Formats: sequence, C-alpha cells, structure tokens
Amino acid sequence: MSLGKATDVYLTLNNGNKIPALGLGTANYGDGIPATIDAVKIAIKAGYRHIDTAWIYNTENEIGIALKELFEQGIVKREDLFITTKVGNPLSQNPELSLNQSLEKLGIEYVDLLLQHWPYGNEPVYNEDGSLNREKSIANGTNPDKIDKDYVGAYKKIEKLYKQYPEKIKNIGVSNYSNEFLGNLINQVEVKPVINQIELHPHLPQRDVVEFDAKHDVLITAYSPAGSSGAANIHIPLVKELASKYNTTVNAVLTSYHIQEGRIVIPKSINEQRIKDATVLVPLTKDELQQLHEFGESNPKRFIAPDLGKTIGFKIWDQSSSVINF
Ligand SMILES: NC(=O)c1ccc[n+]([C@@H]2O[C@H](COP(=O)([O-])OP(=O)(O)OC[C@H]3O[C@@H](n4cnc5c(N)ncnc54)[C@H](OP(=O)(O)O)[C@@H]3O)[C@@H](O)[C@H]2O)c1
Repeated sequence: MSLGKATDVYLTLNNGNKIPALGLGTANYGDGIPATIDAVKIAIKAGYRHIDTAWIYNTENEIGIALKELFEQGIVKREDLFITTKVGNPLSQNPELSLNQSLEKLGIEYVDLLLQHWPYGNEPVYNEDGSLNREKSIANGTNPDKIDKDYVGAYKKIEKLYKQYPEKIKNIGVSNYSNEFLGNLINQVEVKPVINQIELHPHLPQRDVVEFDAKHDVLITAYSPAGSSGAANIHIPLVKELASKYNTTVNAVLTSYHIQEGRIVIPKSINEQRIKDATVLVPLTKDELQQLHEFGESNPKRFIAPDLGKTIGFKIWDQSSSVINF
C-alpha cells in the first residue's frame, strides 16, 4: 500500500480558485513566540503551502517574520502560498480594520482567504485617541450584553470589502456556520462563501453539516483534527489500528480522514515531527471512512465550545452533553 503526499492535493473552490488541502493551524496559544516562527518555516520546507491564522490568535506577527525570511531566502514565493486569516470578533462590523491590521502584521499585500470567524461578533472598545483597545475588545466577547448577532450584516461588510479591494482579498468565506445559519446567509448575499471552517474529526463527524455544505458547493475546512489541546483523537482505538495497518502515524490518519473526503484540514503543531507526519496521505478506504464516522456518531465530543456558539444551531455544543466511553 503506497502512501501519498497530502501537500500535493489541491481542491477547487466554488469560484474556480484552488486551495491546498493541507494547511498549518497556528492557534498557538501559550506556545511562545519563537514556536510559531519555527513551525511556519518547518511546514513550508516540508511542502505545506497553506497557513491558517486569525486576527485573534496573535500569531500573525510571527508568521510574518517567518514568511519574510522564507521569501528572502527564495524558499517559497508569495504567489505559491495560500494564506487564510479571519476577521476578529470585536471587528465583525469593521472588517476593513481587522484586515488591514492582519496584512500589516503578516507583512503581505493580500490574503488568499478572509473568513468571518464566528457568526456572532461583539462590540469593540476604543481608546480615547480613537485606536482600538484590543484587550478590552476581546474581553467583551464573553459578555452576553456585548454580543453582536447580526451575522448577515457582518458578512455583507466582508463582501463589500472583497468587491472594493480585489487586490487585497482573493476569496471570502465563513467559519462556525451551522446549516440553519449558512442557509439563511446564502439566501441574502451575492458572493457565496467559498469555505465554511468548522470543528470536524472522528469524534465529531457532523454528517448533516458535511452534506448540507456539499449540496451548496461550500467546501469545508476541518479544524481541531487531533481534538485540539489534549489531542484526545490520537487515542481513538480505530485511529490507532489504522495507523498500524498503514504503517503510519495517528496524525496522518487524522488528517487523511478529511483529505480523502475532499475537505481541507489545518492541523496545529509546533512539533517538527508531527508537522511532517501530517504531510503523509493515507489511502483510507470508503469502509474505513464510514467506520470512523460511525465511531463519532456514537461517541460525539466537541472540543471547542465557547458560550457564544450555544445558539448558532449546531446539534452538539455543550461538552458536558457529549458521551465518551473509552
Ligand atoms: N475557526 C475556528 O473557530 C477555529 C477554532 C479552532 C481552531 N482553528 C484552527 O484550526 C487549527 C487546528 O485546531 P486546534 O489547534 O484546535 O487543534 P488540533 O490541530 O487538533 O490540535 C493539535 C494539538 O494537539 C497536539 N497533538 C497533536 N498530535 C499529537 C500527538 N500525536 N501527541 C501529542 N500531542 C499531539 C498538538 O501539539 P504539538 O503542537 O506539540 O504538536 C496541538 O497542541 C488551529 O490552530 C486554528 O488554526 C479554527
């Protein structure tokens, strides 16, 4: 059984543009600044051409440092990369400021994909001099009185920006959209999102969302493939069996689970070996993919479940409602 290369797989978005199926996640909370710089350099040298970040991760500066070095050394060209960032929740109604701050930190002229991070944003806080108070603005995200539920209005602002500055934004999309929300959105906007980035893995196969998004020609980017911090999915017995059957790693099985189904996946790692392990594409069969879905359907577990998402229409939200039996 020959193993393929995940870095060779590109998918086509609903507007005809291409996206590399494997991207590096960079929500490196608490990992320290040099870790992100090194992770990006290791990933690009290992063949990754897609980096996923967000205004809120606070890693755009470090990604920018790594990119500058990689460009200067001629290791990769900007046009060969696909860089995704997301509008900060406090700037959901001011995506232009969010985008401009991201571009400046990343040190690039355009992003390949700008996502609305969550359907619900929150009110920002400005300093007396009119500048954004980043810390206080982010803190507002946990205050129910400061939540902004106008997700269609917020997306329309991203859409307007995309039309106004095609040289700065190549594609637009959403993240954390349930079927109900995506259906409502699509009916009211001109530019359909190319991507819906959601939590998806063998503990949370969300077949209803996968089917709905496919029907509407919106590709899915799967986040938290290993189960986020704690990496619970690496302990799933079936995942371990498959890694052993194909003589590969659990990380390769967890990322191939998505790529073999035509999805993008963005594992986060600052570990050199694991960054490289995810570049292996495992030829999982239809039966094996089905067994992984079935595992998740009887053992659902969501790892990223902030309060602001409780009412956005996903079937499983509260972690305490999940069943886990191994
Ligand atoms: N749109 C959204 O709302 C949203 C939400 C969450 C995440 N995301 C994106 O998706 C990316 C990935 O999601 P994630 O960061 O939540 O989760 P993830 O990729 O599932 O989590 C990876 C974590 O598990 C650890 N890990 C993986 N394999 C391991 C192994 N074999 N042994 C021990 N530890 C292992 C990694 O540690 P090492 O670093 O040491 O390898 C890392 O801390 C994020 O970085 C971000 O870019 C988006």
